Amino acid sequence: MPSATIVGLQWGDEGKGKVLDALAKQVRCVVRYQGGGNAGHTVIVGEEKFVFHHVPTGILYPGVKCVIGNGTVIDVEVLTGELSAARERGVDLSGLVISNRAHVVLPYHRALDDAREQARSKDNKIGTTKRGIGPCYADKASRTGIRVADLYEPDTFAKRLRRNLDEKNAILHHLFGQAPLSYDEIYTRTLAAAESIRPYVGDGGQVARTALDAGAPVLFEGAQGVMLDLDHGTYPYVTSSSASSAGVASGAGVPPAAVGTVLGICKAYTTRVGSGPFPTELLDEQGERLRQLGHEFGATTGRPRRCGWLDLVQLRYACALTGAKRICLTKLDTLGGFGPLKVCVGYERGGQRVNTLPADGAGWDTLTPVYEELPGFDGDELLGATSPEQLPAAALDYVRFIEEQLGVKVSYISTGPQRSALVHMDEGVL
Ligand code: IMP
Repeated sequence: MPSATIVGLQWGDEGKGKVLDALAKQVRCVVRYQGGGNAGHTVIVGEEKFVFHHVPTGILYPGVKCVIGNGTVIDVEVLTGELSAARERGVDLSGLVISNRAHVVLPYHRALDDAREQARSKDNKIGTTKRGIGPCYADKASRTGIRVADLYEPDTFAKRLRRNLDEKNAILHHLFGQAPLSYDEIYTRTLAAAESIRPYVGDGGQVARTALDAGAPVLFEGAQGVMLDLDHGTYPYVTSSSASSAGVASGAGVPPAAVGTVLGICKAYTTRVGSGPFPTELLDEQGERLRQLGHEFGATTGRPRRCGWLDLVQLRYACALTGAKRICLTKLDTLGGFGPLKVCVGYERGGQRVNTLPADGAGWDTLTPVYEELPGFDGDELLGATSPEQLPAAALDYVRFIEEQLGVKVSYISTGPQRSALVHMDEGVL
C-alpha cells in the first residue's frame, strides 16, 4: 500500500503544513486523523498565506480527495468560516469529505475549556488553545458526544443538545459562576452551519479505504506532535487526541498497516506553546532571539512560543514511538547566523546519565540536559536552498550529526517559508 503518514516529532508547530503541501500533489487522498481547530497548518504560495485548521492541506491541489477524518473534532461554525475564506480565494473544495463520524465541538465545549483553564492555578494551567478540544473529546469518551451525522437528524440533535447543555450549564453556573448558554442560539447557529457543510459530509473512512484498495497513494496528516499525544506526551500538558502515528487507524478508519512510511517532522531546534516540561528551553536572550528569527508565534492563537535547543533524547523517543525512520528537518534557515549551536545528547540526574523520558512531572524537573556544541553556519546561502550543494558544510554537518545520533535519514530539509524552499536529500517518501 503506497501510503505515508506525516507526524510531528516535537510539541507541534514543526512546519507540517509545508511538507504536507509538498507531498499532497503526489497522492490521491489526504486524511486528517485527529485534533481540530487547535491546529494551524500553514502553506505559503508566492505572496499568499493559507492557514488550515480543519481542512487537510492537500485541498490546494484539485483532484485530491481531502478527508476530515472521524478522529477529528469539528467546530462547524469555524469550519464554515474556513471554507468560505478558501472559496473566496479560489480554492476548489470539490474534493473535500467531512466524516459523518467526527465529533462536533459546540459552544459549551469552548466555554468549559476556557472556564477550567481560568480556574486552574498559575502552576497548573495547561495553556490550552481554548478551542473546546479537551471537553469535546471527553464527551466522545463518555459517549455523550454529538457527531456530524447527528446534525442531519434534527430530533436526535435537539434531544442530545438539550441533555448536554443542561449538564454543561449546571457545571458552568455552579462551579464557575457563569451565565447559562442559550439552547436556541446554539441549536439555530449549529444547524445553519451544518446546512452549509452538508454537501461535503460523507463516510470519510470509506473514501480512504477505497483509495487504498485501488492501490492509490494516501497521505495521513497528523496535527500537533508526539509530545502532545494524550498517552505518550508530557501528560497532563498534552492535547486530548492520539497525535502519534498510532492515531491513524482509528482516526482515519483504515487498517493499521495503512500507516505506510512514517515521515517525522521536526524543527532544527525546539519550541512548545503552553505549559509543561521542556528541558532544553532557553529562558535568556538566546531564546528570545530564536523566537524573533523563527517568528515563533502561534498560527492559531498568536501566543509566543517557548524556544530552546534541539533535544535528541526527546526526538529518539518520538522516532521510536512513531516508527519514523525518515525525517524532515524544518527551519534550518532560522539557525543561519545564530553562532555556535548546542544540541542535547542526553540528560543527567544526580550525576547519573538518563536516556529515557520520565512519566511524571517531578521526574522532568530533576533532569539537566547534557549538550554538545556544534559550529554555527551562515544563513545567506541557506535561505531558500533547494539542493544539498547549496547548503553550507557546517549546516550539512549539523544534519549528519542528527542522523547519526537518531539513526534516521533526513529526507527533506526546509530552508524557508516558501513552498519552493525545500531540499530533497534522497528519493523521498512516496
Ligand atoms: P488543546 O489541544 O487546545 O487542549 O491544548 C493542549 C496543549 O496542546 C496546549 O499546550 C496547547 O498549546 C497545545 N497545542 C494544541 N494544539 C497545538 C498545535 O497545533 N500546535 C502547538 N501546540 C498545540
